[in-house]
Amino acid sequence: MIHNKIFKNKKILLGITGCIAAYKAAFLTREFVKLGAEVKIVMTPSAAEFISPLTLSTLSGNPVIINTFPASQKESTGLGTWHIDTALWADIMIVAPCTINTVAKIAHGFADSALTTLVTALRSPLLVAPAADVDMYLNKIAQKNIQSLKDFGINIIEAEEGELASGLTGKGRLADINKIIDSTALVLNGFSHDLENQNILITAGPTYEDIDPVRFIGNRSSGKMGYWLAKASYLRGANVTLISGPSSETIYPEIKLHTIRSAAEMEKTVKRNLKNNDVLIMSAAVADYTPAKREVNKIKKENKLQAIQLRETKDILASIDKKENFVVGFALETENGLVNAKKKLKNKNLDMIVLNVLKVNKSGFDSDTNKVIILHKSGDKKDFPLQSKFLVANNILTEIIKNK
Ligand code: CTP
Repeated sequence: MIHNKIFKNKKILLGITGCIAAYKAAFLTREFVKLGAEVKIVMTPSAAEFISPLTLSTLSGNPVIINTFPASQKESTGLGTWHIDTALWADIMIVAPCTINTVAKIAHGFADSALTTLVTALRSPLLVAPAADVDMYLNKIAQKNIQSLKDFGINIIEAEEGELASGLTGKGRLADINKIIDSTALVLNGFSHDLENQNILITAGPTYEDIDPVRFIGNRSSGKMGYWLAKASYLRGANVTLISGPSSETIYPEIKLHTIRSAAEMEKTVKRNLKNNDVLIMSAAVADYTPAKREVNKIKKENKLQAIQLRETKDILASIDKKENFVVGFALETENGLVNAKKKLKNKNLDMIVLNVLKVNKSGFDSDTNKVIILHKSGDKKDFPLQSKFLVANNILTEIIKNK
């Protein structure tokens, strides 16, 4: 799992409020625990109408907090300042799902439940994932309160568009569990919303060059690096367009995705999208050669094929107009990495190049980790250790921000 290292032994306070998406908090709890985190849960009394505290205490391995005060005064000795102790215990707090009622309360500093009391006592970062039916979510007052949380520096994980429990379709679904986990990892790693108002174009994956209707020439790129670059850019506030060759990776619905197959399609799509973007990150493994002719019918064995005639594809990076954009290339090398990457940086007139160090174990194709060296036009060089592709992506983005 990509985020294992960052969640290990982290103390997560998970707040759950009363809406139908509360059941998804069970999956979130299980994922946090699987990643090695310690999870304590605080629920509002209405959340307990939707999901059993027993489910959540079983999954988290900790008692669930619901009420500010004990059920009877006899039980009150020894509780003391539990709210302060619990708030100080947490490395991070996530409220998911957060109803528009609780959003309003947080926005106005209420401390009228165990959950809102903890929010006000918190010293660590807070993430809020609001969810509601579409009209409630888009309600002007709710939107104003969500904006108000953002203005207070609270990390909002916006609801997604889709089918809702009411049968209506629209914005209001709790963000996907994986996106909530990625957002939490982002904040735990100390990255912020520093790409707001930036338009970023990213390419990912391999290209497939068809020989006939059945066969193609491809390469081993999985697309993981480019997909993590796209997700990290989105989480840091950018508007992201992803152009992807064939890949089994998944992407957030808010990211504009263009799927292509061949180098020629990749070239056309990059050129069409370039002028609307500030940054181009070309992480795709574009084929350098394509069959000179694509056969209409399957080539039969009896034809005794001896060779396939190839022609060069257009080098997209080398041929695009770079006046308006900050352009980042990748260099995939198995030998003389630094020398070749420097050559590519210069010959393709790039602002920055990311050298994939393939010789390191667990680096490169299809792996969740990568070892990269970043070279800047200025001559500056940054050598990173073997890291998760999520962290590599974020470090690449930080280098772009610093040098743009
Ligand atoms: N690239 C491109 N168009 C191509 C081939 C590559 O834009 N037709 C881009 C890649 O997306 C990458 C950079 O160029 O950002 C370097 O790609 P790489 O495969 O490492 O190098 P090549 O220039 O193809 O040279 P070689 O294969 O000989 O190493």
